Amino acid sequence: MNNSVKAKTIDAVISVHIVTKSVLEQYLQQNIHLKEIFDMYSFEGSYKETLFLPESKIVYVGATLKSRTQHTDPYNKIDYFELGATIANTLSKTRINSYNIESLPIDTSKEQIKHLILGMKQGAWEFDMYKNPSSSKNKELNIKLSTELDIFLDDEDIKEMKIFHDGLILTRSLVEDIPEEINPSTIARIVQSHFGGFENVRIQEFGYLDLEEMGMNAINAVGRGSDHKPILTHVTISPSGGVKKRICLVGKGLTYDSGGLDIKTEGYMKTMKTDMAGSSTMFGVAKIITELGLMHTEVHWISAFAENMIGPNSYKSDDIITTYSGQTVEVHNTDAEGRLTLADALSYATLQDPDYIIDAATLTGACIQALSDYYTGLMGNDADLIRQLTDIFRSEGERTMYVEMPEVLRPWVQGSIADLINTSTGKRAGHITAGLFLSHFVDQRLFRNSKLTIDEPKSYPWVHLDIAGSSYNDSRNSLSKQGATGQGVRGIVKWIQTIDQNA
Ligand code: BES
Ligand code: ZN
Ligand code: ZN
Repeated sequence: MNNSVKAKTIDAVISVHIVTKSVLEQYLQQNIHLKEIFDMYSFEGSYKETLFLPESKIVYVGATLKSRTQHTDPYNKIDYFELGATIANTLSKTRINSYNIESLPIDTSKEQIKHLILGMKQGAWEFDMYKNPSSSKNKELNIKLSTELDIFLDDEDIKEMKIFHDGLILTRSLVEDIPEEINPSTIARIVQSHFGGFENVRIQEFGYLDLEEMGMNAINAVGRGSDHKPILTHVTISPSGGVKKRICLVGKGLTYDSGGLDIKTEGYMKTMKTDMAGSSTMFGVAKIITELGLMHTEVHWISAFAENMIGPNSYKSDDIITTYSGQTVEVHNTDAEGRLTLADALSYATLQDPDYIIDAATLTGACIQALSDYYTGLMGNDADLIRQLTDIFRSEGERTMYVEMPEVLRPWVQGSIADLINTSTGKRAGHITAGLFLSHFVDQRLFRNSKLTIDEPKSYPWVHLDIAGSSYNDSRNSLSKQGATGQGVRGIVKWIQTIDQNA
């Protein structure tokens, strides 16, 4: 990945005014001229409504919520990150990259301002590596707070925002970049280039032959039809103090998903370069955590990278795979490959004896059908962990819906001549049955690989994030533009920081 080019900019500053209903009323009482302008453009100051006045270089951004859905929509609150992205998007065509935030609602917190600035910076970024620089709209914004605002951002805040910004761009670039550049053969070098310089980071890599010897047959089955053979990367980030908590982050890492022999039909293959978004999310999280540093929490990022392709060596429907856990799986569809690679990666994660396991995966089209492409589907096996994550995601503005995994659906993933199937015998709720399938690989009591020495087998607290829709949009996403969102990164980092603070 090369450094991105930046759009040409001109020297000028745009004033940003965040407008709530009360601010609007105040403006209108004091300034007849402004009243005329707002009337002329029917600007009411509702959430994410923007009015840009190019002659005076002022942008007004609405921050008034309609109360209609307040009781049913937990996200019906001003999310400053998305608000920031909206501003950047409105101004994406201007060549100005300097902004001065001049007015904010009176009760805006420091955290919200940080979200706003980060949202603006993220909204202004676009993946332009393959574009003619003259048509790039990628801008690095220069954002200042007006001296009138008494919220002070110190050097620590600025540094932290830069770390988050860079981490999000890493995630979004990896999602956007092409499988020619990012595939199981190139990933080791990319991981090395980001973590190689840190003394407290250990990088382990397992190639095809290592995986074969270990018995990670599910990862190898999925990836063996490609010229780029699979690889499992394990990055361990040690805290500065003694280890009191251990967290495993697992990401789906399909650098391309053609569907395999059950090949995807027209229209469904395009965008499958994004099928490693789960790994890209955890890559960004791991990078941010490494830069910020933790006191007592050891973080393990584990990803199996593979390319699901067609060839004489491809795995087939009707194959039976003995996974790393020892549980066997009948392949009913080679396009349901993510859960196979995750099965081995999750079982491997349990061997680190973590306190928590979280995975992120572009796992099912069913999740998009059920929740739309704005929402991450959150499933899990531990009420306390589910609550922790849903609460933090909500306060960070990471659009997420909790999805139950009822036991009555578990028989749908049971096999007839093997333990499990990689699809479902039921026709509906494919995101839930995929989650149920994964749950078998975080419960060591179900393992039967005699090569694994497990003293006290147990089920590990685990949450699964299906980001099939929320990680990338072909039309407009939470950043008000097309492409990769980086959704989940901020929330997962915040959750890890909270665990660390309480460790
Ligand atoms: N990578 C896809 C899921 C996906 C679809 C991600 C759309 C992002 C956008 C996954 O590997 C897949 O193909 N899943 C199948 C499973 C089915 C065959 C049981 C699906 O969802 O259709
Ligand atoms: Zn697939
Ligand atoms: Zn896939």
